[in-house]
Amino acid sequence: MKKVWFSAVLVLAALALTACGGGADAVATLAPVPSDFAGLANPLGADASAAGASLFKTNCESCHGSQGHGDGPAGAALDPTPKNLADLQVAAGDDYLFWRIATGKEGTSMVAWRGVLTDEQIWQVVSFIRTLK
Ligand code: HEC
Repeated sequence: MKKVWFSAVLVLAALALTACGGGADAVATLAPVPSDFAGLANPLGADASAAGASLFKTNCESCHGSQGHGDGPAGAALDPTPKNLADLQVAAGDDYLFWRIATGKEGTSMVAWRGVLTDEQIWQVVSFIRTLK
């Protein structure tokens, strides 16, 4: 019995180590998308990015910066500072971006935008984020 318990601890330790493997690069260790959002794909085409750009300018740029590099004037004093969305979008799926924008990020200044923006507007912003470099 003791042996079984010990192997369970070993397995857990191994899992914990694996989970922390990419710790230095936050973008490489994205949180799993909750099932309500997992698998969602942007129903809009790339041309929606124009509307997204103007929504981004109004609602997001002050913190995330005009090119989404996380360097907006209102973001500098925040802890954590706003994410570089140009980097993030390379690693993140549509479902991840939509989920974070819709529901915000707990423990940070990133608020939930669902209710402020419609789902269609959130997808327009996602289309814009896809253009960021
Ligand atoms: C008040 C400043 C502020 C505003 C305005 C803001 N954000 Fe954020 N945003 C943040 C902060 C702070 C984080 C958390 C960064 C972190 O976790 O390292 C964040 C996180 C995010 C993330 C998730 C990053 C991750 O690591 O998962 C996305 C996507 C995002 N913002 C997009 C947007 C969009 C789109 C808008 C406009 C609709 C917006 N944000 C408006 C401050 C802001």
